[in-house]
Formats: sequence, C-alpha cells, structure tokens
Amino acid sequence: MKKPEKIIFATGNRDKVREIKEIMAGFDIPIFSLKDAGIDADIKEDGETFEENALIKARSIWNISGGLVLSDDSGLEIDALNKEPGVLSARYMGENTSYVEKNNNLIGRLEGVPDEKRTARFVCAVAAVFPDGSEKVVRGVMEGRIGYEIKGENGFGYDPIFILPEYGKTTAELPPEVKNKESHRGKALRLIRKEIEEYLHENSDSK
Ligand code: IMP
Repeated sequence: MKKPEKIIFATGNRDKVREIKEIMAGFDIPIFSLKDAGIDADIKEDGETFEENALIKARSIWNISGGLVLSDDSGLEIDALNKEPGVLSARYMGENTSYVEKNNNLIGRLEGVPDEKRTARFVCAVAAVFPDGSEKVVRGVMEGRIGYEIKGENGFGYDPIFILPEYGKTTAELPPEVKNKESHRGKALRLIRKEIEEYLHENSDSK
C-alpha cells in the first residue's frame, strides 16, 4: 500500500482544527479539514457515547472520500449535574447560544456546590477509518473542576470555567502548548497517531 497523501479530519469546528493541527504538527501526513478537502456534509450525531458519535462521523466521510479519515467527538461531563452536558455539549442550551451564556448557566446550576463536588472532565474520542475500511477508536480524558467564574481568553467552549487543579488555572488561562499537553484531545490524538503509525507499518509496501 502506498502511504496516504492526506488525512481528512471530519470536523467543521475551526477551534478543533487549529488544536488538531498544533497537536499533530511534525506528523508527515498533512491534515485536511472537511473544508480543506472540499467536502460539505451535514452528519447527524445521534450516538449515545462519544465513541459512537466519532465513528458515525468518520464512517460517513470515509464513505464519500475513502482514504484515511479521522474524527473526534468531545464534551464536558460535570459530576454534580449527572454528567451533563456530555455528548450534548455543543448543543447545550441550543447551538446558537453563546458560550458566555452556557458557562454562566452551568456556574449558576452549581451554586452552593462545594469545591470537592465540582469535579468534571473533558472527554474526547477519536475514531479512525483506514484505507481498507478497518476502524479504531481511542479515548482521552482530562480531569478537573468547575470554577466559580469565567476566566481566561485562550481555548474555546467551556475552557473558561474548567480548572486544572495542578495548575490552579482554567484551560482558557493556560498557553495552548500546556493545554494541548494535558488535554483530552491531545491525549486521544497521540494515541490515534500511534495506531496510524502501526497501520502504516503493517501495510507498507516494503513489508
Ligand atoms: P463536538 O465534539 O463537535 O460534538 O463538540 C464538542 C463540544 O464540547 C464543543 O463544541 C465544546 O462545547 C465542548 N468541548 C470539547 N472540547 C473542548 C475543549 O477542549 N475546550 C472547551 N470546550 C470543549
């Protein structure tokens, strides 16, 4: 098998594409977003888990493009809120509601909840569909706590309320390289990168 010329990352989320390109920098196959690849697809994410949703997206795009397709599905689980917003993180309070409103709403719902019960985690599942149609899914997790106010300008989404206890800062206050080192997405992408390297090794022409 010839080495794939590109990896299509099945997401339209610009913030994610930026992080993915940062995290996969140095990998010798270029990453294309759906937009870069000229693919316009509206995929229904109706899975019940991050893994199911990541696979749904990667398979749908692979059916259009073939080749090597990756996709991620991620979200925030807050323990005191029964793991909400979970797989519905992007759609929480409606897709068009600003993150200032979403974040303030979550802080409001945690009023009176003490520090030790404000535990939460970001979860990211990354699915790969390989050129021969085989599949792999991996998961990365970052544990933390929900703060009492919005803080920080970096990152996106729920970063301004998500505190990493070992840094005493929200992931929106940390520089991108620190967030990428610790993050759910960073961990999952490093795992899938290993899977891709293994697949390429197993299927290389010289083997
Ligand atoms: P999806 O994976 O496209 O379904 O969307 C995941 C949603 O979870 C994002 O739109 C954010 O709301 C939230 N999310 C996932 N990862 C992060 C992160 O690293 N920081 C902040 N919010 C995140």
